[in-house]
Amino acid sequence: MVSVSSLLLALLPATSVLACAMHRATTTQDSVERRDSSTGQCGAANGNLSCNGTTVNRCCSQAGWCGDSTDHCGTGCQAAFGYCSPPAPAPTIPAISTRAKLGSVPYGSEIYACTKANTIALTFDDGPYLYTAALLDLLKTKGVKATFFVTGSNLDKGDIDSTAAWTSVIQRAYNEGHQIASHTWTHADLSAVDEATRKYEMVRNEQAFLKIIGKYPTYMRPPYISCNAACQATMGTLGYHVILWDLDTDDYNQDAAGLIQNSKNNVKTAYDQRWDAYMSIAHDIHYQTVYNLTSYQIDAGRAAGYTHTTLGECLQDPAANWYRTQL
Ligand SMILES: *[C@@H]1O[C@H](CO)[C@@H](O)[C@H](O)[C@H]1NC(C)=O
Ligand SMILES: *[C@@H]1O[C@H](CO)[C@@H](O)[C@H](O)[C@H]1NC(C)=O
Ligand SMILES: *[C@@H]1O[C@H](CO)[C@@H](O)[C@H](O)[C@H]1NC(C)=O
Ligand SMILES: [Zn+2]
Repeated sequence: MVSVSSLLLALLPATSVLACAMHRATTTQDSVERRDSSTGQCGAANGNLSCNGTTVNRCCSQAGWCGDSTDHCGTGCQAAFGYCSPPAPAPTIPAISTRAKLGSVPYGSEIYACTKANTIALTFDDGPYLYTAALLDLLKTKGVKATFFVTGSNLDKGDIDSTAAWTSVIQRAYNEGHQIASHTWTHADLSAVDEATRKYEMVRNEQAFLKIIGKYPTYMRPPYISCNAACQATMGTLGYHVILWDLDTDDYNQDAAGLIQNSKNNVKTAYDQRWDAYMSIAHDIHYQTVYNLTSYQIDAGRAAGYTHTTLGECLQDPAANWYRTQL
């Protein structure tokens, strides 16, 4: 059925660019493979096609049309299928110090596994978001320290360093003993962007972390598991450990009461195999992850005889090496 508003939108020129926050990232952002629209239609009702214009037609309107006009963006974009914002300004990167590579954990190459026997590092990506505070409550109740790969400005949530709710939840996580790590400023694909943007994605997040907790992390995880040789070289220069995982809960595909058991099964299958240690990935932007899976996972890990630690601890890296204070 074609609605009146979608007919209207079809006729509108894509001119006025709105400043709604950039949100190429989506709640399923690690799982969606983009398929670009060649027809100007997009979204869930149109085969999940995305809007791929680089300077125009980047927003997928609620009615399913690619464009940038007020009528496309003003009533909300379908964040999974496009984003609306002016083209990103040319990134300004401050002078960066030479960054000492302390400790024995490698910098600038991908790390998949913990090295300390009998540990499980629970890691959570893409937040802070709506459920992060509830996750901190749970971790506190359970007495578990975890690691958060924080994204600075994704999901249309507002910048972490100027949105009080996110600033305070990051401070809380840090103060409660969790490790804070970087997941880029906008959840960018670091293999797809140019060198200046790649640096900006990391350094802008560093500026935010400095404001929020007075230090910034040496641990990062590349969005979309995407960090090619050029990206790894940049991460090495910037002094980052590039962290992946070996236990994928697949939570982002199972965020429903009727599905989350699949993630529990993934966890159980892995724990039944009694590996030396586990580096787990989940996402604190999903309800079922926070209100259902994590409690199960902690109990299952403990029942299997493992101890939950931060990432730095499971990699036997002294805590003094997890952050820097000088840009
Ligand atoms: C669009 O994505 C949704 C959610 O992932 C999925 O349920 C649906 O089958 C997809 N539709 C098409 C046409 O691919
Ligand atoms: C978007 O992708 C479609 C399909 O690949 C292509 O036909 C179209 O030219 C692309 N548009 C832009 C602006 O890149
Ligand atoms: C939690 O997950 C189980 C499946 O493992 C499901 O039956 C139950 O409904 C879920 N609880 C909530 C509150 O969604
Ligand atoms: Zn992510």
